[in-house]
Amino acid sequence: MQSSAPDAFWNDIYSNGSQTSSGNPGLALAQFAGTLTPGTALELGCAKGDDAVWLARQGWQVTAADISSVALGIAAKNAETAGMSERLRFEEHDLARSFPDGSFDLVTASFLHSPQDWPRADVLARAAAAVDPGGHLLIVEHASRAPWSWSPENTRFPTAEDTLASMRLTPSAWRHRCLCPIARTATGPDGQRAIVMDNIIFLQRLT
Ligand SMILES: C[S@@+](CC[C@H](N)C(=O)[O-])C[C@H]1O[C@@H](n2cnc3c(N)ncnc32)[C@H](O)[C@@H]1O
Repeated sequence: MQSSAPDAFWNDIYSNGSQTSSGNPGLALAQFAGTLTPGTALELGCAKGDDAVWLARQGWQVTAADISSVALGIAAKNAETAGMSERLRFEEHDLARSFPDGSFDLVTASFLHSPQDWPRADVLARAAAAVDPGGHLLIVEHASRAPWSWSPENTRFPTAEDTLASMRLTPSAWRHRCLCPIARTATGPDGQRAIVMDNIIFLQRLT
């Protein structure tokens, strides 16, 4: 478990990593959010902004949050380069402590993981509470360990059902559109490739 302050930990990662971004959305975001009619979207843990810029390009009006001011600076530059700044608003939040205002047609969190000890289930429940009736929640999370991962080799990953249960949602208020693991070919920091599993939690809020 990391013991440095969470913002310092993530700023260090983004300061020492590449300042450019792939410009590509996550596969699951494109697959699942790509089926929706654009409206307002909130992205949690937006990193360098690839998913947020992709959503803006699809016509979404996006609020994107991250704990790292360094990542958000890179994301804002990426949005500008893409000509999407007017559709994007970046906000700095430690989601364990503060959360963007408002409610949204889509709330998405992809790989919102941290080696820090933090209340992830509470943050995901808060994400669900920010979905408007009729809107969607998309959570994509690791379900297996990539060989280059920081997580210990004996890490036990939750199933999609485990994560959903941890959020304590009112079952009758949500339609499950996908609650499943999917396989993906991932590329590591040195270009190495491996098949990994992700969980998809894709829900529509009914009431
Ligand atoms: C593993 S990265 C995933 C980034 C991106 N969503 C993706 O799909 O590649 C996790 C992101 O969550 C952010 N994060 C971690 N803890 C956070 C917290 N407490 N509040 C807000 N953002 C946090 C990190 O700064 C980082 O950008």
